[in-house]
Amino acid sequence: MGLGVLAVFLGLLLEVSSQGPHNGPRTTWKHHEVDLLEFSEPGVFNYSTLLLSNTRDSLYVGARDAIFDLSKSNVTVQNNKVQWQVPDKRVSMCMLKGKSKEQDCLNYVRVLQVLDEERLYVCGTHAFQPQCDYLSISDFTLAGRAEDGRGKCSFDPSQSFTTVMVDGELYSGTAYNFLGSEAIISRYSPLQTLLRTEYSTSWLNEPSFVFADVIREGGPDGPDGEDDRIYFFFTEVSVEYEFFGKLLIPRVARVCKGDLGGQRTLQKKWTSFLKAKLVCSMPELNFVFNVVRDIFVLEAEDWRDTLIYGVFTSQWGNVGLSAVCVYNMALVDEVFSKGKYMQKATVEQSHTKWVRYNGVTPSPRPGACINNAMRRQNISSSLHLPDKTLQFVKDHPLLEDPVLPVGGRPLLITKDVNYTQVAVARVLALDGRARHVIFTGTDTGVLHKSVVDQGEVHMVEEIQLIKSGGAIKDLLLSSETRSLYAGSDSGVVQSPTAFCGKYRSCDQCVLARDPYCAWDPRSSACVNILDQTKQAQSLKGDADACPAVPPLSPRDYQRVVVKPGSSAELPCVPPSNLALVSWRANGSLLTEASPFHLIGESGLLIYSVAPEDQGRYECWALEWAPAAGKNFSRPVAAYALSLVVRTTPRGPRKDPAPRVPETPGSEGKGSEHGPSPLTPACFTPPPPTDSSLTPPPTDSSLTLLRLLRLNPQAPGDGGAVGGPETPGSEGNPNGSEHGPSPLTPARFTPPPPPPPPTDSSLTPPPTSIDTLRLQYLQRGNVVALLCLFLLFFLLFLAALAYNCYMRYLPAPCLRLRAALVGGHKSSLRPEYRACEAGLMDPSPPLPAPGAEKIKLTQQQKRQQQQQQQQQQPAVVQNGSHTTTTTTQSQLRALRDTGYETEPDCGNGKTPSNGFGFGGGGDDSPSGQKPFDVDCESQPIEFADADDPSI
Ligand SMILES: *[C@@H]1O[C@H](CO)[C@@H](O)[C@H](O)[C@H]1NC(C)=O
Ligand SMILES: *[C@@H]1O[C@H](CO)[C@@H](O)[C@H](O)[C@H]1NC(C)=O
Ligand SMILES: *[C@@H]1O[C@H](CO)[C@@H](O)[C@H](O)[C@H]1NC(C)=O
Ligand SMILES: *[C@@H]1O[C@H](CO)[C@@H](O)[C@H](O)[C@H]1NC(C)=O
Ligand SMILES: *[C@@H]1O[C@H](CO)[C@@H](O)[C@H](O)[C@H]1NC(C)=O
Repeated sequence: MGLGVLAVFLGLLLEVSSQGPHNGPRTTWKHHEVDLLEFSEPGVFNYSTLLLSNTRDSLYVGARDAIFDLSKSNVTVQNNKVQWQVPDKRVSMCMLKGKSKEQDCLNYVRVLQVLDEERLYVCGTHAFQPQCDYLSISDFTLAGRAEDGRGKCSFDPSQSFTTVMVDGELYSGTAYNFLGSEAIISRYSPLQTLLRTEYSTSWLNEPSFVFADVIREGGPDGPDGEDDRIYFFFTEVSVEYEFFGKLLIPRVARVCKGDLGGQRTLQKKWTSFLKAKLVCSMPELNFVFNVVRDIFVLEAEDWRDTLIYGVFTSQWGNVGLSAVCVYNMALVDEVFSKGKYMQKATVEQSHTKWVRYNGVTPSPRPGACINNAMRRQNISSSLHLPDKTLQFVKDHPLLEDPVLPVGGRPLLITKDVNYTQVAVARVLALDGRARHVIFTGTDTGVLHKSVVDQGEVHMVEEIQLIKSGGAIKDLLLSSETRSLYAGSDSGVVQSPTAFCGKYRSCDQCVLARDPYCAWDPRSSACVNILDQTKQAQSLKGDADACPAVPPLSPRDYQRVVVKPGSSAELPCVPPSNLALVSWRANGSLLTEASPFHLIGESGLLIYSVAPEDQGRYECWALEWAPAAGKNFSRPVAAYALSLVVRTTPRGPRKDPAPRVPETPGSEGKGSEHGPSPLTPACFTPPPPTDSSLTPPPTDSSLTLLRLLRLNPQAPGDGGAVGGPETPGSEGNPNGSEHGPSPLTPARFTPPPPPPPPTDSSLTPPPTSIDTLRLQYLQRGNVVALLCLFLLFFLLFLAALAYNCYMRYLPAPCLRLRAALVGGHKSSLRPEYRACEAGLMDPSPPLPAPGAEKIKLTQQQKRQQQQQQQQQQPAVVQNGSHTTTTTTQSQLRALRDTGYETEPDCGNGKTPSNGFGFGGGGDDSPSGQKPFDVDCESQPIEFADADDPSI
């Protein structure tokens, strides 16, 4: 729990810190906006295992009960398919074990590995009884060998596991038993017996495997005779940290390819199994990403330069953060070859603790791979390792030294996503610099593309790859087809690695900072540099200046014609999430200051268009281009706004004064220039006539209401006056919940670009009810506010009177009531008064006030609470002498709890022990119940903790 609190705290901290530089995607592509190729077959699901063929035009896909051979240049083309179902006998056995027929007792193909030129090695869960087989590539048929898949594939299709095929041997990290409780890292080879991990929590403790791969260090014939290593990445429950609950920890473990197990100790077990902690944290915030979700190994010519990209999330999913950390292979190797061991120490008899081992380590180094130095000592295989070394590594598989990320911190941190997959490409951009492009897939089917440029990361784009929004289960990258392949429960998606053609202008092409893209001035297009190999030299690099944007010509202005007094929305969709949008009217910048304009996320809304609002409006997007080292500013949309020419001339607005002085934050000042504040008829409903025929209201109408409507949306404005509850806004049920939507009813949708030059007559008249309302709210003054207050006051009084009448309010009110209504009060029992004063009366004085109370609307209740709170001081002072058994201070203490809003002495529905506070009163010692005197004489029916009958 403490950890949870810590995590929440850290989350908050992070929340604060992440207000700074925003690392979101620059461009967002929806599923239909980009050219994606999709494959799925009706009735087949869980396309979760992908394998690219190096030699053929094939993408092999392992799905549920089927394996596909798709064309990797176009996944919509299916080359082949094989069904691999579980025989009925097996299904019934599976169901006997309590598994579901629809979900579990099927064959989820989870292992697809290239065995040789002709065959794939494939394994499936096979109704909780994993099986493997050989798949002939040429005729795409299964050999039907039905090998035992235990230790190669998981039993449970939802359980994590990983495999890698190295030189015809299959390395797996998975569960070895039906229950999934015995996790192993094993090697299966046709020639040798299974080599596996020791069954011990210090070796593997509830691991979730995510990835395994081989790093080739040269083999016995290399310079040092170093063996190849197979690295496993997983998250497991930590043994070395003491926490309240299970603390997860990301790990990297490795084994040596040449390992044959020990002669006596560690027979048929790894002699080279070592593991270390992977660190992905933000040191300055002490925030740890402790769950590794996926790993991508970006190979380099020298294995030491190989980079390991990992995506991490936090064990506390509610923090909603994902990170990418990078590790250098040379450093990983150093931890394994030089790191200190940890050992289990027993403290206080039963309790064990993991501490650093400081004693002498046996030689050769425990867990080391066989190399030339060992061979010189006549140790040519693990079978020759001395028992001392083997015993040591059996007891000390965990290294103390952690594997730290490059740069000591995550390369990328993203809010509100759960990354599930990662793939990385190295791209040589036109400026001659290689950049790493990180593709990360999320649990909602979104792909993020980020570029690492000289240690800086910027997110180029996000794409909704999976239409259904399901998680990306597997993500492969092919430099040959320049495509990404994503597997999900619903299908397979092929996506290009770049969408250069979507950038229509030079500045967009440059601003995207996509290393795949460059602007070709000859064709005036943003092109993929890989498509243009021959022309590449003639293309200009990112940093080159784009041709100047020509000034807007009159033809560029879309004509918008509205009726006077109605509102106009001028849409503007910025080309990038990072662009700053600004509006210019007649060439001068519009600011938030104008109360009649609302600059929203996607456009400009002009309320109640007046003659002086006519003119030219331009939406400009400004974006900083780091590559070019300058700001790009260009018009995104341009409109010529004009009013419908009227046949019946009407006088211009008599007094435009209320419009001009309205400045931001002037809601309080508004009362200063309203003509007659107390106009009683201020709430006369507008006659439901055609808005277009109604002359605009006169100046005594409702500017303030307009302000009220505007303020909740106005950025940086406290909105102290306006609120969802104010009558001014209640006519608009969608309130201020989501951005500009309250404004949409009066939306004016201009014709799509390019605009027909003079079809102003086609403009639909705004006839919605909201437009009517808008018209009536358009001009006004302080009267509105005062009316609001008046209304509230009246409601308040009404509620007060009602509550007083219903005797929900304490003694003073009752006396008032008695004075006014008379009579009834005598029927009250004497003790009722004491209870009224804030104590409890278990028997309700009135038959069913609760029933009537239910009829109160929410609003009334709120007002009731407000009144009661406001009334408190008076009540206490006036009522003190009527309460015989309490002192004024006691009473005050009681009242201050705010529990008066509950019917303390009312209907017995609140079985409190006379307090209603102080932690469930029942446990309080009787000495702390000074107020129970009168109430306790009543038959009290409530649950008592001490009551043996409960
Ligand atoms: C992929 O194949 C489908 C079906 O043959 C075809 O309609 C489509 O045009 C192809 N797409 C590409 C990009 O080759
Ligand atoms: C398989 O796909 C189905 C349908 O999308 C989904 O409900 C189920 O959870 C998936 N099973 C596994 C093990 O991924
Ligand atoms: C290795 O074995 C050879 C012969 O088997 C022996 O002559 C040599 O002394 C041994 N060397 C060591 C370091 O034990
Ligand atoms: C991430 O996953 C956790 C649990 O796995 C979930 O609670 C959370 O809502 C997810 N967050 C997002 C942004 O999808
Ligand atoms: C724009 O200019 C026209 C005439 O030049 C003027 O009538 C109009 O009020 C101006 N509009 C704005 C919004 O300044």
